[in-house]
This record gives sequence, structure tokens and C-alpha cells, in this order.
Amino acid sequence: MTLFDKFYPLAQARKEMEAQCSDLFHITMEEILSPTEAVIKGRPTLLAGTNNYLGLTFHPDCIAAARQATEQEGTGTTGSRMANGTYAGHLALEKELSAFFGRSHTIVFSTGYLANLALLSTIAGQDDVILLDADCHASIYDGCRMGNAEVIRFRHNNVADLEKRLRRLASRKANVLIVVEGIYSILGDQAPLKDIAELKRQYQAWLAVDEAHSLGVLGESGRGLAEACGVEDGLASH
Ligand SMILES: Cc1ncc(COP(=O)(O)O)c(C=O)c1O
Repeated sequence: MTLFDKFYPLAQARKEMEAQCSDLFHITMEEILSPTEAVIKGRPTLLAGTNNYLGLTFHPDCIAAARQATEQEGTGTTGSRMANGTYAGHLALEKELSAFFGRSHTIVFSTGYLANLALLSTIAGQDDVILLDADCHASIYDGCRMGNAEVIRFRHNNVADLEKRLRRLASRKANVLIVVEGIYSILGDQAPLKDIAELKRQYQAWLAVDEAHSLGVLGESGRGLAEACGVEDGLASH
């Protein structure tokens, strides 16, 4: 068996899918018309899969700031934040976000995928347990896989199942981190965050909420589902 043989079933499955829809893996946007429209195969098309709900990529302030930044500082930092990639603008943005969220610190990553890898692979260690909603995003699974914590899944949005697992873990004296999403990326439903936060308090666990799809959308100030449910912990200035 060669290195590539294991991909044969995958290639077959892809071929079968392509026989039904030849464009499946070759969607190219020839022209971007707006945050939610592009020209695909010569036709203006609505982008139902985009995450650009807030339209920020076309907001005049964002365009002006991007233009100014590239003119003054070039097209990239050519280094990681830790090495030579932290510019004053990064810190200014993090300060603004800290004020917005009422937190003492914020870290900005270039993608949500990286944020989840960084958080989940480091925060929970060898003797800790992550309780993961089964329908969490792939980046959350990958972040957990990179760390050393034990990972246990609970049924999607099922508070009773979560409690059952917290109860079982209570005797182990492990730190338990519950991980959920504010609005689930594939299903579009919301976590029962009030109940989950109550369980977190009851069992002295920790709670991480990926608000990728709820930031700017839910809550009176747009801080997400945690704000909407009134369960933000330890706010500095609200
Ligand atoms: C809940 C959730 N977390 C993280 C990500 C990853 O974000 P990004 O595409 O910026 O890497 C996504 C992507 O859609 C997501 O839905």
C-alpha cells in the first residue's frame, strides 16, 4: 500500500459527487459585487454560504482603514505576532475590543480557526477535561486534538446530557471546560446558554463560547449570545 492509496475511496466518492454536480469543488467568483453577491459562471449569484452578514468587507470605514494601513505599513507584517509581527495598530484594535467586551485583555487572530487552535490546545492540559457539544465547528475539534486534555462530547444542545457528564466527572476533581457555540455554524440554532452557564456555576466548571456567528448579531450591544442571555462573567465596565 502506498502513501496515497488510502485516498482512493475518497477520490471515488468525489468523482461520484462531481458526476452529479460538476461545479461542486470548482466554484470561482469571477467578480465580487457586494458582501453577499458575486458573478459565478457569468451570472450574478447570491452567496448563501458567506459569513459576511454584517457586510464589513465593503463598509467604507473598513475600506478606508485597510487602504491607509497598506499605504503606511505595506501588505503584511512578514512575521508572527510573537516575533516581529505586532504593530501598534494590532494593540490599538485589541484595546478597543477589550473596552467593547468589558475585558482586561483581548487577543486578535487572523482567522477563527487559529483562535480556536490557540485557545483550546493550550488552555486545557493533561489532567483537564473538555466537554464538547458534538456539533461544534471543525476548528474546535482540531484545537482539542492538538491539546492534551481528555475530550468528551455531549449531545448537541442537550443540557440533561451535559449535566449527566458533569455529575460523573464531579468525583474526579479535574478542571472541566465546557465548549459551545453561540449560534451553530451549520445548524443555525443557538446554545441554551443560560442553562449551560447555570450548570457551569453549579459544577464549578469553565465555559468557552465561540461567538463567531453571534458577535455583532445578538445582544443589545452586539456582544453575542452571552450578552443576550445575561451570562457574561466578570465584566470590567458594564
Ligand atoms: C463557529 C466557528 N468557529 C470558527 C470558525 C473558523 O473561522 P475562520 O473561517 O475565520 O477560520 C468558523 C467558520 O465558519 C465557525 O463557524
